[in-house]
Amino acid sequence: MKTWTKEERYRVLTSEQEIRPLYDEIRGSDYRQHYHIQSVTGLLNDPNGFVLHNGLWHLFYQWCPWGAVHGLKYWYHTVSCDLVHWKNAGVCIHPDTVYDNKGAYSGSALPTDENLFLFYTGNHRDDDWTRKPYTCMVELDKNGKTIKHPPLFGMNGNYTEHQRDPKIIYNEQNGKYYIIIGAQTKDKKGCCIIYISDSYKEGWHFAGQLHVPGFEDFGDMWECPSIERISGYDVLIFCPQHITLPGRGGNIHHNGYLLGHMDWETLTFYPDNTKFHVLDFGFDSYAAECAANPNDKNKATLVAWMGLPDASYPTDEENWSGCLTLPRELRVRDHRLIQQPLDRLRALRGNKLNTESTDLLPRVCEAEIICRGGDLRIHMFAKEDHSGGLTLTYDDNKKEITIDRSKMVKRFNIQNGESHSRPLPKGLFHLRIFIDRSSVEIFVNDGDAVFSTRLFPTESENRLCIDGDASVHMWELDRAVEDSFII
Ligand code: FRU
Repeated sequence: MKTWTKEERYRVLTSEQEIRPLYDEIRGSDYRQHYHIQSVTGLLNDPNGFVLHNGLWHLFYQWCPWGAVHGLKYWYHTVSCDLVHWKNAGVCIHPDTVYDNKGAYSGSALPTDENLFLFYTGNHRDDDWTRKPYTCMVELDKNGKTIKHPPLFGMNGNYTEHQRDPKIIYNEQNGKYYIIIGAQTKDKKGCCIIYISDSYKEGWHFAGQLHVPGFEDFGDMWECPSIERISGYDVLIFCPQHITLPGRGGNIHHNGYLLGHMDWETLTFYPDNTKFHVLDFGFDSYAAECAANPNDKNKATLVAWMGLPDASYPTDEENWSGCLTLPRELRVRDHRLIQQPLDRLRALRGNKLNTESTDLLPRVCEAEIICRGGDLRIHMFAKEDHSGGLTLTYDDNKKEITIDRSKMVKRFNIQNGESHSRPLPKGLFHLRIFIDRSSVEIFVNDGDAVFSTRLFPTESENRLCIDGDASVHMWELDRAVEDSFII
């Protein structure tokens, strides 16, 4: 595996011709996705600035052009009219000022009557590599032209250098704007710090640290925080780092949420109970970002990076890595976030397959499985003799569902654990499974739990077998994301 020098990772992209050969090399890969947003070249990590503006959905991602490595980050732009079909729109934020000289890091978007405003962390480093993060703003007009404004504010000296990922929120009640930032206290505790202003363009000042009773010592850094209003609840979504959680193997980076109530006067988020809910029970999900649903204020749409920090993937050898999850509609049911695939995804359904007459599993498809009770075992990507593959097992005695990818030929991130379980107290009755060329997303019981996982099947791993009382419907899915070279 290639070892990257700092110079290689932080090389500035000066012309698209510099990465054209990389694109030509990877476009033929068997693992390029058909309906998931993926890196145009190099590495994709967090989704950023997910928003509807003037009838168009915008979704940006953290992008390092040079290979499967974290280095100089750009905001790469994709657009969609329906949240299903996506087009590449080229680089939007270049790290080209002193404030973001070592990366335009993650952030969020604010739609206004005129332009779209993007808020991000300028990852500045001095020559001796000391980091000084800035909160920056870029204005994007309808012709795709960007104006970089001077930074809104710099680093807060009462916290460590880990201050990033601004989420802008407008509070209709008091007419104020807030920016929430993921941070680390000087005694190495993860937290959020909050800035306030009457105008999103200027006048920002530090309002205080977010109090979250019961979560004062929960990981050493909180990345990508946000507070969303969903089904009458406030939801604090964040990524606590360097902490292990029961049932999450050796993984130390998590993405989860607390349901509760946000008091903007005292800057306190009161969780309804002490439960930190994991957002996704699969192996690869991080840095989720939500877009408000303008038609229904009780709902939001979530998308996440289908990947993890400090992890490597089989396509690293092909010089690219990373894709996003499908957008999911969020609601609250039984005191939990429910994540459902968008209805409009059904438009991608093509040929209906007869699963009675063949056990071949297409590489791009959707399966809907109605479970009639009792134990169930689903083998995806099994070999011809039905051995190996990814297994999804439901144990009716234990009322628990387990995903296990340890029997795949290409194994990776083994240290994080290869099997994850989730209790299903009410049993298993429904599954919707979305398979793309290198990922699987499983929606359990109408969105009650989701498992998102990257997977890199070899040619011989192409069978599906199901043991248990269930009926299966399966469709091939059309391509929905263009893999075009637009820089
Ligand atoms: C999360 C993260 C963010 C940061 C970005 C850099 O994966 O580390 O905190 O802004 O990635 O790409």
